[in-house]
Amino acid sequence: MKKIRIAILGLGTVGGGVYRLLEMRKAEMPKRAGVEIEVAKILVRNIEKAAKKADRSLLTNDWQEIIGDDSISVIIEVMGGMEPAGTYIMEALKAGRHVVSANKDLIAVRGRELLMTAKENHCDFLFEASVAGGIPILRPLKQCLAGNEISDVMGIVNGTTNFILTKMTDENMEFDEALAVATELGYAEADPTADVEGYDAARKVAIMASIAFHSRVTFNDVYTEGISRISAKDIKYARELGCDIKLLGVAKNTPDGIEARVHPMLIPCSHPLASVKDAFNAVFVHGDAVDDAMFYGRGAGEMPTASAVVGDVIDILRNMEWGSSGRIGCSCYRDLPIKEIGD
Ligand code: NDP
Ligand code: HSE
Repeated sequence: MKKIRIAILGLGTVGGGVYRLLEMRKAEMPKRAGVEIEVAKILVRNIEKAAKKADRSLLTNDWQEIIGDDSISVIIEVMGGMEPAGTYIMEALKAGRHVVSANKDLIAVRGRELLMTAKENHCDFLFEASVAGGIPILRPLKQCLAGNEISDVMGIVNGTTNFILTKMTDENMEFDEALAVATELGYAEADPTADVEGYDAARKVAIMASIAFHSRVTFNDVYTEGISRISAKDIKYARELGCDIKLLGVAKNTPDGIEARVHPMLIPCSHPLASVKDAFNAVFVHGDAVDDAMFYGRGAGEMPTASAVVGDVIDILRNMEWGSSGRIGCSCYRDLPIKEIGD
């Protein structure tokens, strides 16, 4: 059976989860995707640190060892930041490698360029994990809901700030303490300013709006205000009004143009978004045919994010082996014992 060799760039929170999940599913891969897989190389900066998570023989800090190895056909970028991630992804796509990324910083600015490069080189460039962690939202927007005229995409798309606001509201925790716990749990960005000031949510709004509205909305197009000025007093006053404070991302396609914004909002405690706690995210979509749809789940963290990344990898493997009709999975309908229910 064909073996697909995969490289992972980055072995932090997400990279560690991706490596673990690929190893957990390795034996299943022939059934799920028609191929065997092997993680061939993992790019990191600090090999000593990474050796706690993966065999030292897999680790390198030399990108040339990966881009120069033609036997590697899928590259997973989970190192983050604009550079060198941007250069590595461009080089990978130009060399005909399929790429999966969780890097919203990069995609919210250079998404179109990366997708055009993928198209020109007949490669896949998938990035489901870049928005709302483990929640499937980009694939539903670009595939399942493609028949709609989508007018609204809005919700809670940053786990760290939702975690902070939940802890400040429900447990009277101080802002700094809640941020420290979110960082410890692997929810926060390498520089948590991106979470706290709303930039991370703005990047996600830009990506969702671009896909939902078939347009190009970039990070700079999104009005952005974070939660750094929200105090315990604000939360107390909100509660007196029967409301919670949530950081919302909103994108609307109006006759006057696209509106895209991120800012804290008062939400009545009875509203479904008020029950979205901790690092969970929720996204509401309104389309003219589907009406309202809602997506809910874990928006950050090691394994939920790995779930989205590995889902993209399996999608690519299926397409490589079975073609587009096999993307749903030729593995469906295999004969497994069916349990009798009742007597
Ligand atoms: P971490 O900071 O935990 O991990 C980053 C990893 O990339 C580390 O292993 C680091 O190596 C490596 N790395 C960084 N720069 C380089 C470089 N120049 N060369 C080689 N290796 C490098 O980040 P996360 O895992 O949290 O995030 C990774 C990406 O996933 C980011 O784009 C983030 O926005 C995105 N994301 C994160 C989510 C989360 O819940 N954490 C959810 C969804 C998306 P070293 O440790 O040796 O420096
Ligand atoms: N820092 C991000 C968050 C990670 O807290 O939502 C998931 O994209």
